[in-house]
Amino acid sequence: MKRDTDASELGYATKAVHAGQRPNQITGAVVEPIYQCSVYAQEFPGKFKYDYGRSMNPNYYPLEEALAAIELGKFATVLSSGVGAMTALMFLFKAGDRVIIPTDLYGGTYRLFKQVFEKYGLQYTQIDLSDLNAVEDALRTKPALLYIESPTNPLLTVYDLKALANLAGKYQVLTAVDNTFASPYCQNPLTLGIDIVLHSCSKYIGGHSDIVGGAIMTNHADVREKMDFARKAMGLHADPMTMFLMRRGIKTLPLRVEKQQKNAMALATFLEKHPKVERVLYPGLPSHPQHEIAKRQMKGFAGMISVYFKLGHEETMKLISSFDIITLAESLGAVESLVEHPASMTHQKIPAEVRRKNGLSDGLVRFSMGIEDERDLINDVSKALEKF
Ligand SMILES: Cc1ncc(COP(=O)(O)O)c(C=O)c1O
Repeated sequence: MKRDTDASELGYATKAVHAGQRPNQITGAVVEPIYQCSVYAQEFPGKFKYDYGRSMNPNYYPLEEALAAIELGKFATVLSSGVGAMTALMFLFKAGDRVIIPTDLYGGTYRLFKQVFEKYGLQYTQIDLSDLNAVEDALRTKPALLYIESPTNPLLTVYDLKALANLAGKYQVLTAVDNTFASPYCQNPLTLGIDIVLHSCSKYIGGHSDIVGGAIMTNHADVREKMDFARKAMGLHADPMTMFLMRRGIKTLPLRVEKQQKNAMALATFLEKHPKVERVLYPGLPSHPQHEIAKRQMKGFAGMISVYFKLGHEETMKLISSFDIITLAESLGAVESLVEHPASMTHQKIPAEVRRKNGLSDGLVRFSMGIEDERDLINDVSKALEKF
């Protein structure tokens, strides 16, 4: 892409391929090389383009332009992981500040907030974010942040982001959304009035189960500046190889997510009719409790499905260990389909009584659909279910 092309005017797939990418000024390389370098020579003390890898590296900037472009925002800061992005976000607050969090959220987020940041005086209150009256009551008490995940991990609850952004705006409370489950291809919270978006780039953005990375996107220049500072001061940088793979992953994000959501819809529809299935949670199904909100605020429904089987605990464990193609593994958003058991894997760090109170039952199974052939994935699940 030429230096003077404005990425905001391009279609989504064009942005994904070209945003921030220009032929390398020295070699003409079409793809930005990996700057596997920790330190840079200075012309004179303090006169430099780059100084040290923790604070700057030529791989940061083209990638950040692309990350901002695919979230339809102005700025992005690339970080070490999704948890690294949340850690940087907490740098905006101080002891005594209160944060509202949803009742259902990624177990690692809950652990970071409750077991790390509470030690430093931040306070976290779980609220059902679909109850707008309860949210407004909480906002009246002037918390520092309304932290949202939508769709949530693992119950796939969808919250009305525009309504939450409007309410928070009324009380001048900052909003942040963990948009990892939707992917930036399916949902862009900044366009709905949300202040900050977080991603675990280890998932859809990387897309190939081969990197751990994170990002924060925003339209607020001061937030971006503070995130850049937090990265440098707290050691939350991403390494050059990871940044290279992240930029490469972004190029195929639209293609991958299109196939992933097609496979998800096919498996969700198949499972919904299966006699061994009690309930399927997928925002794309008309039976999903917030299907109408999802249709309104998402451009697609992405590739995550949660399922309750009519099986006992032991049988459920055997079932998810017995697929041929679908791999039993914790992550999501990759080209390979994965399955996991939240209560004993991704959400095991949430105390059992808190999990149960918030509806995360021990029978729940979570699928992340990949880009394989739909027929093979359905056969894999169908054959495994025949044994029960
Ligand atoms: C919704 C969500 N947010 C954040 C994270 C954390 O990301 P990372 O593993 O890159 O730190 C995860 C990890 O599974 C997640 O599912």
